[in-house]
Amino acid sequence: MGSFHGFGWIERGEGFIVIRRVVLPAPGEEVKRAVNRVLDSGRYVNGPETIAFEEAWADYCGAKYCVGMGSGTQALVTAFRALGIERGDSVLCPALSFVATAEAIVTAGGTPVYCDVDSRGLMDPDCAIRAPICKFVLPVHLYGQLVDLKWMRGLMGAIFIEDACQAHGQVRTVKSDAACFSFYPTKNLGALGMAGAIVTNDEDVYEKAKENAIMDEIQAAVLLAKLPGLDEANEMRKEVAQWYREFGVESFVEEGNYYLYPVLADDPERVKQVMWDAGVEVGIHYPYILPDRVPSGMIKLYTQALTLAFWHVTLPMYPELDRATVKHISEEFHRCVAL
Ligand SMILES: Cc1ncc(COP(=O)(O)O)c(C=O)c1O
Repeated sequence: MGSFHGFGWIERGEGFIVIRRVVLPAPGEEVKRAVNRVLDSGRYVNGPETIAFEEAWADYCGAKYCVGMGSGTQALVTAFRALGIERGDSVLCPALSFVATAEAIVTAGGTPVYCDVDSRGLMDPDCAIRAPICKFVLPVHLYGQLVDLKWMRGLMGAIFIEDACQAHGQVRTVKSDAACFSFYPTKNLGALGMAGAIVTNDEDVYEKAKENAIMDEIQAAVLLAKLPGLDEANEMRKEVAQWYREFGVESFVEEGNYYLYPVLADDPERVKQVMWDAGVEVGIHYPYILPDRVPSGMIKLYTQALTLAFWHVTLPMYPELDRATVKHISEEFHRCVAL
């Protein structure tokens, strides 16, 4: 099996342990049946599969409405627009996330105002309280850990959009103005290509978002096939996390859907190389802070975001991992950090 690693496609030998697999939460046959159903239907965008998925996902997330989109980024940009963002509007967001979080703000015409994160990588309430007043707040449920929105709402009275692109199965009631999901193939609920969605209880947001929304029927059908298995797959990830702990490999992520399993490490690039040489793929998600990628004009120190960004690796994490493999990865990891 090969992998796109850095700038090239690298062949990996027999027994190589990949960082993610994208089979569960639905066995291949069900996914193939869903794809064939769409091929036979001749309807490839915004058809019955999209409608059925929107209904199912709104229901699953405890929201009144869902709009299927082409990606998580598109969902975020559309949510900002539907909620009336104007050029230059400030958007409070954490300094640590995937770069698309900040890119979506800028694409929608907003200006990011960054806030440091806590030791779990989530927007730090103390920093958020001290930040300038912003029209929008965009908390990110990073690595599938749910940000508690209660304190934020009371304190700031801003428009809240959740970046739930990593939080499948965690957002079960929508308390914000809109929550945005990505169904990128490696997500806990992943399509066979790009897809995303907005869930909201606000009819006006729904109507506006719907105007330009496009979702592939194939992606909607695949997601529908996978959705019934999502909770079980998330439970299996939790078990994998539990095994890592049992074998002495602690993550700074202690709960959630374990989209990733990040672990603090002194020299991430070296760990990555040594683990790869030992037959285990390891990642770094994300080796940057957002203010460095998408500058906001404000120069501030984001100590905790920097610590997590520069001193971690992410270990293999997917539902199909068994205990023996997790034990093996853990032993290799201990060996590697002791070198
Ligand atoms: C936190 C976060 N925000 C936004 C996105 C963007 O989603 P997409 O890749 O579907 O555009 C992702 C996807 O990886 C993400 O993890």
